[in-house]
Amino acid sequence: MEKFYPEKLDEKTIEYFNKHITDGNNIKEIITKKINELGIKNISITEIDSNLISLITLINKPKKVLEIGCFLGYSAITIAKNMPEDGRIYAIEKNDQYTQIALDIIKEIGFSNKITVINEDAIDYLPKLSKISPFDMCFIDADKENYPTYFKWSIKNIKSGGVIIAHNVFLKGKLFYDGDDKEQNKKSRGMREFLYNFFTEEKIMHRSIIPTPDGLAIAILK
Ligand SMILES: C[S@@+](CC[C@H](N)C(=O)[O-])C[C@H]1O[C@@H](n2cnc3c(N)ncnc32)[C@H](O)[C@@H]1O
Repeated sequence: MEKFYPEKLDEKTIEYFNKHITDGNNIKEIITKKINELGIKNISITEIDSNLISLITLINKPKKVLEIGCFLGYSAITIAKNMPEDGRIYAIEKNDQYTQIALDIIKEIGFSNKITVINEDAIDYLPKLSKISPFDMCFIDADKENYPTYFKWSIKNIKSGGVIIAHNVFLKGKLFYDGDDKEQNKKSRGMREFLYNFFTEEKIMHRSIIPTPDGLAIAILK
């Protein structure tokens, strides 16, 4: 049987592709500089994820996108940059400091007309966004224990032909964790429940798992 994940590659091959597969912009540099200044952990998507999300955005041409988990704005900017001119992405972020930095960066690079950052807890705010649905695409990249709720919302509020993308589905190797760490258990259970729904949902026309560093789940709706 064909293997899902490629055989281990030699360093030269990895270096070669790393050099050529970029996100096609300099946003990562701006955000990395900010992260270093603040001395916080970098929890943005990788450049490989950014490259793939750009590709999907360019193919699907979404005009209304929801992002759950904005952090400093790297993925929201990646998506916005590849959306049509009249497109808008709503990016939810519950952390006040991250929201302010994201807003500053978005303003600095001139993307305020395409990105609305919402400083709220997604769980509380999603019902309000249902009022302006349907959306064309949703990118899920926030608290893992709530992925099942975010997926359920997306299935109801993304239109036919639309896309759902979820990040970190490999959970850094802890998808099947069953140790004593309660927080990790919540995350692992949440991600497994999300994946069960993702693999069995009838409204999905096509689903893929892309082996980026921590895995992207991608679904196109019927
Ligand atoms: C992995 S980071 C997102 C990275 C971002 N997508 C990027 O690539 O630039 C996850 C973010 O989700 C936010 N978050 C976690 N739970 C949330 C919730 N319930 N509602 C809104 N934001 C949440 C965290 O504060 C964090 O900034």
